[in-house]
Amino acid sequence: MIKTALIGAGGIAGTHLAFLKSRKDVELAGICDTNYLKAEERVRSFGGRAYKDIGQMLDSEKPQAVWVCTPPRVRYVPLLACAERNIPVFCEKPAEAGLQEAESLNRKLAEKKAKVQVGYVFRCIPAVQKLKEQMQDDKIHLVQSLYSCNLSLTDEVSAPRFNKSVTGGLLVEQATHNFDLLRYLFGEVSSVSGLASNPVHKKEGNYSIEEVISLSLKFESGMIASHCHSWAGDSWRNVITIIGEKRLYRLSLFDRILTVEAGDQKKEIVDPPDSAYDYEDGIFLDMVVCGDWKNNPSTYEDAIKTLKLSLEADKTVSI
Ligand SMILES: NC(=O)c1ccc[n+]([C@@H]2O[C@H](COP(=O)([O-])OP(=O)(O)OC[C@H]3O[C@@H](n4cnc5c(N)ncnc54)[C@H](O)[C@@H]3O)[C@@H](O)[C@H]2O)c1
Repeated sequence: MIKTALIGAGGIAGTHLAFLKSRKDVELAGICDTNYLKAEERVRSFGGRAYKDIGQMLDSEKPQAVWVCTPPRVRYVPLLACAERNIPVFCEKPAEAGLQEAESLNRKLAEKKAKVQVGYVFRCIPAVQKLKEQMQDDKIHLVQSLYSCNLSLTDEVSAPRFNKSVTGGLLVEQATHNFDLLRYLFGEVSSVSGLASNPVHKKEGNYSIEEVISLSLKFESGMIASHCHSWAGDSWRNVITIIGEKRLYRLSLFDRILTVEAGDQKKEIVDPPDSAYDYEDGIFLDMVVCGDWKNNPSTYEDAIKTLKLSLEADKTVSI
């Protein structure tokens, strides 16, 4: 049995807890949240014991692996508490909301030889691995990435997600998935610039996000890309279109469908129906069991590069 625990029992925690519950070789020992009621509620559905103090949970339960699902600005305490006890961590994205904070934490994690996998879920799904295989003999010069949802049309303006100082905003918290995937597939970005506007609610008080954003990115390879992001769209969509010399590839990330077109030929590759998050969680557990971390799909240090890109993009659109 692999003894596990989770810190931060909010929204995304449910996805990882469902995975842990589905594994016969895993025991969930503890769930910790500063909001003790939330921890208790999760314990009722998923088992383990509820805690509100991280150190107390780690010392009492002595887990072999911990999931950190706290908000972006809450990384330092949970990650270091685990590193000091030599416990590997699966940490939700992004690395942090601030670059200085992330870099300072990274130095401490490196000193302690901490084992951390950051939750960049798309790196681990089969559709992305298939895409890499399909593109192997092709040359890519242009990419179009689009992420849209309807949060600004549906949610109360007072919701914390609209407060950039809490989450970092659309680019740091959400487009980060696409930036990370583009980096993973095509290497580093050398320059980024963009435009933004607020067609639904003006920026005022804690409503400090940009609602629609359009970015242009140039990669070190010479490839260029656009990323468009909207919180004023009809529903949730995330589609990346890749133009190669030989083929066009369309990756629909939420339904995990890869379409490959060459001339009038078209084929569709669809991922199995299991949760996208099961793949990253499964890889993490495998590394915990075998002790070999060289194929870690997303190290903390690498996640900082995605954070840096998100922050640079954000600087160009902040109005
Ligand atoms: N990979 C994905 O697709 C995905 C989706 C949603 C969220 N996320 C990421 O997951 C993280 C959490 O997001 P969420 O939507 O679940 O947030 P949330 O606000 O719903 O939950 C966060 C929880 O952490 C708790 N918390 C805060 N500080 C704590 C501390 N010091 N110790 C213990 N608990 C603490 C809060 O009380 C809250 O219950 C964020 O970084 C977010 O970007 C990732």
